[in-house]
Amino acid sequence: MPNKLLLMAAASDRLRGIIAGSSLGRGVVRRFVAGEVDDEVIVVARRIINSGMQVTIDHLGEGAATAEQATAVRDAYLSLLPGLRMPGMAEVSVKLSALGSALPNNGRTHAYQLTRDICAAAAAVDATVTIDMEDHTTVDLTLSVLNDLRAEFPWVGVALQACLHRTLADCRRLAVAGSRVRLVKGAYAEPSSVAYVNRPQIDKAFDRCLQVLMEGEGYPMVATHDPRLIERAVHHARSAGRGITDFEFQMLYGIRTNEQRRLAEEGYRVRVYLPYGRDWYAYLTRRLAEKPANLLLLARSFKPGAAN
Ligand code: FDA
Repeated sequence: MPNKLLLMAAASDRLRGIIAGSSLGRGVVRRFVAGEVDDEVIVVARRIINSGMQVTIDHLGEGAATAEQATAVRDAYLSLLPGLRMPGMAEVSVKLSALGSALPNNGRTHAYQLTRDICAAAAAVDATVTIDMEDHTTVDLTLSVLNDLRAEFPWVGVALQACLHRTLADCRRLAVAGSRVRLVKGAYAEPSSVAYVNRPQIDKAFDRCLQVLMEGEGYPMVATHDPRLIERAVHHARSAGRGITDFEFQMLYGIRTNEQRRLAEEGYRVRVYLPYGRDWYAYLTRRLAEKPANLLLLARSFKPGAAN
């Protein structure tokens, strides 16, 4: 579970400056973030695709505070997508809050319209779109926007968080033909009134959701680095009579890359989630918080002499 102190540090501009100001710090950023601008992430995407995997690209940033900021995020995707003409291999991931869903007055409509523009641009280059899931208060709005988008773009996917009590029922509703569901454990600190809060419970919930998705008619996207749950996904897929390309694994850029390669070499579909953009700090601290060993990487970048 995310370390609270680190999550608080996500707000710190000073720490961001220190990380960006040292070559080791920049190395830590590059390990988890695929670049700051279009050309950089496109180079990384091509390299991953040439190595036999697929990509989903996330323009970093959450929670647009103004309509202009939300429109700028839409424009960032519109600028990126023409460079992703890699039929069937590329996807973008979007956060509705970055596209204005939380703005007062018509936030939902705003987010829907901007996401629709992104879907149309993705369709033009044979790419797909998946909507990330944010904290539990946003799930109903996200699923309702998904529903409207799927009427026009049936391939739009969504992330569901196994940690939420409601998710098993959401999986049942969405395990229908053509539906693409990315199952994740959940990255937000949620209250126990709506979510499982300890790891074994979350893992059990993930396993139950996996079974429902694999037995359903949709296309499951299994987004975890957890070796046991990867095995369970293979088990549920086999039991449900799915072939190895009737679902996919997804992992984050820079995390368990050997496992990504191993699965791809065994013939499984593997999609790497590539975050990019100048707003990398909050994303980076979340990844560091998930694994104490990552903190050592960061600590080294603070040593005197590391800065340059
Ligand atoms: P867990 O955290 O238990 O990790 C299992 C193992 O993976 C660890 O023991 C370690 O070996 C390795 N590992 C995990 N994280 C690591 C790290 N940061 N550094 C090094 N090793 C690490 N969440 C959300 O709420 N909404 C969303 O839309 C998405 N979208 C999304 C897309 C994709 C493709 C992925 C992979 C994940 C997400 N997530 C997400 C994040 C997700 O909810 C979760 O926080 C992380 O994936 C970590 O959980 P794991 O399932 O990997 O298990």
